[in-house]
Amino acid sequence: MTNNSKPAPDRYGLVGHPVAHSRSPLIHTVFARQTRQNLTYELLDAAPHAFETAVRGFGAAGGKGLNVTVPHKEAAFALCDETSAAAQKAGAVNTISIKGGRLRGDNTDGVGFIRDVTVNQHQRLGGARIIVLGAGGAARGIVGPLLAEQPAELTIANRTKERAEEIVAQFAGSLLGVCGFDELAALPPFDVLINATSAGLKGETPPFPGTLIAPESFCYDLVYGSGDTPFVTWAKAQGAARAVQGWGMLVEQAAESFAIWRGIRPDTKPLLKQSARWTSHRPQRAPGMMCEIRGAFG
Ligand code: ATR
Repeated sequence: MTNNSKPAPDRYGLVGHPVAHSRSPLIHTVFARQTRQNLTYELLDAAPHAFETAVRGFGAAGGKGLNVTVPHKEAAFALCDETSAAAQKAGAVNTISIKGGRLRGDNTDGVGFIRDVTVNQHQRLGGARIIVLGAGGAARGIVGPLLAEQPAELTIANRTKERAEEIVAQFAGSLLGVCGFDELAALPPFDVLINATSAGLKGETPPFPGTLIAPESFCYDLVYGSGDTPFVTWAKAQGAARAVQGWGMLVEQAAESFAIWRGIRPDTKPLLKQSARWTSHRPQRAPGMMCEIRGAFG
């Protein structure tokens, strides 16, 4: 480097499998421009057996940090030398900071989700009756952050009831209820409904009874797409006051990761308005995170 030349940009990226369709490079590029940070953000496609080599190789080449997406989040948790409280609660890492060869793991999925719901959508979670529909990895990732908001009640419902029971057992709390989809029709409407099934990734909505929704219910889909997702379309048809897809969660978790790495929190508002232009037509999972990949995102 000569005295006149700009310093080389710091390198960041997303490691997952696959990662080709991820919107994370676009999002982080916008954040970097907005905050005048000199960095690049690249995609690293690594199959499970190559994950550790990819992370260590990136660090050895001077890389400063990585986001982690499916299927590596649990492996990233195991690999990191130290982990934040949020990562420990989730048992998963989506943000790695690399310093002197040491890996520090964090998890911004939960805080990104809560921030989108409570700050961007102005939906109160404390004291609310909440139902999470689905009990896979995506559902597991949001239960801890939801409980921290102190809802009046949190029910986990799943087609396969045993999986919902496993989550409830893990989080053992008096607030938690559990049911199978066949029992949903007997429940009164909820204040907040969160779709954590992966059905929308295939363009479907499971046959939830419309009685779950009251006019003032708030419905949130962890899947995002360029228009209404199947769950959002269904919720609106049932008369829900507000039904929102999960683009904001993707943007907010990225902003949290950026803040961890650069010490400056970008303004997410410009990107929150971009979902229609920036997302693909195919519905994708918002956190890009906890599910076995069926779309690709980050
Ligand atoms: P993810 O990490 O995306 O959550 P997962 O762990 O495979 O992926 O979980 C997928 C979730 O979507 C599960 O709750 C699944 O229900 P089952 O546990 O009964 O399989 C749910 N799901 C997927 N397709 C569905 C469908 N067509 N109808 C109802 N639930 C569905």
